Amino acid sequence: MNTSKQVNVMIGLMFLVALFFAVNVINEPNRADTARHHQTETFSKRGAEIFVNNCRNCHGLEGLGPEEGAIAPKLNTPAFLVLAEDNKYGLPATSDGVAQGIRSFLTTTLECGRKGTIMPTWGEKYGGPLSDQQISYLVTLMTEGRFDLVVEKGLDHDSHQNPPATREDILSDGTGLALTQKNCGQYDALTAREYRERDPFAAVVDKSTSDSDTRSDSSSTVVSAPASNEAADALVQGLPVGDYFLTLCAACHGPNREGLLGPALLPSTLLEPDQIYIDTLHNGRAGTVMMPYGGGPVLTDDEVKSIVTWLKTVEP
Ligand code: HEC
Ligand code: HEC
Repeated sequence: MNTSKQVNVMIGLMFLVALFFAVNVINEPNRADTARHHQTETFSKRGAEIFVNNCRNCHGLEGLGPEEGAIAPKLNTPAFLVLAEDNKYGLPATSDGVAQGIRSFLTTTLECGRKGTIMPTWGEKYGGPLSDQQISYLVTLMTEGRFDLVVEKGLDHDSHQNPPATREDILSDGTGLALTQKNCGQYDALTAREYRERDPFAAVVDKSTSDSDTRSDSSSTVVSAPASNEAADALVQGLPVGDYFLTLCAACHGPNREGLLGPALLPSTLLEPDQIYIDTLHNGRAGTVMMPYGGGPVLTDDEVKSIVTWLKTVEP
């Protein structure tokens, strides 16, 4: 090789090196995205494993709660989704503020559990079994809505049991459940509503219809609510009694009062005198997870009476 050839080769190599750096710099944001994506995927998978081992018995094999015969509320819900840019729904990304609110709601709910309910305390710092890291995996699982991973890992897990575990084996029968006593300033069923009832999809629909003048026409076709009844109008803790029931009692008694972990609460099943049920609400039922609600800071005597009248007279 003569000198001029060597120089050419050197120049060629330097050009390639420069090109390599240039391509990398241009590609940097993409790589950051891919890395983030990879991390969310890994966290969700770890979260799914923890979910299979600790949460399915109450929240369901698909996280769908009462919809699949489980005793605890559904977690596989758009309410907890945090949407990234470019999400598969084509919706705007969740704002940082809202995302932070959801993450902190889920984190503190997991760490503390729910006082007065069977939702256990999970955080190590409050005496539970899970580390901060493990809780953050679960939060990622829920904010990413990756219950497909829970189903996948669950099937794998159950098929390796001998004999293979069935749905009935897994869904809790209510024995051995205890009420969470600890109060670490956590959300309660009422403050949780804001998050539980969030609908990232509805916000978009509202916006798109608000400009159109067909809106007032369509609202006039809405069927009016059935004639209201005094019992159904009662307020409990500032909420219509039906809403109060949905947030505090439905996890155990079923959203339509059909009975889940606790018995059905319908006019046709509540045949004892009112006082029996008033006492149940006041004192709870010893030895069961039915806790006391009345006679104190939780519910006033009047509120307890309103609930009992509503349960005994209003059909779901
Ligand atoms: C022994 C049953 C039980 C187990 C096990 C359990 N939960 Fe719960 N969980 C509940 C109940 C009941 C509630 C509703 C409490 C209430 O009425 O506010 C709840 C509420 C929640 C909420 C709040 C949902 C909302 O709509 O307010 C989250 C989040 C949650 N659980 C996550 C989990 C995760 C994750 C695990 C597993 C680490 C888990 N839970 C294990 C019973 C359980
Ligand atoms: C953690 C689960 C749980 C929650 C939450 C719960 N209950 Fe119960 N409830 C039960 C169980 C279990 C029983 C049955 C107790 C027994 O065996 O005597 C029961 C019994 C009752 C009864 C007596 C029914 C009968 O036929 O004797 C009433 C009334 C009742 N609950 C109302 C409520 C109301 C109202 C709420 C909400 C403020 C509520 N419960 C919340 C679990 C729950």
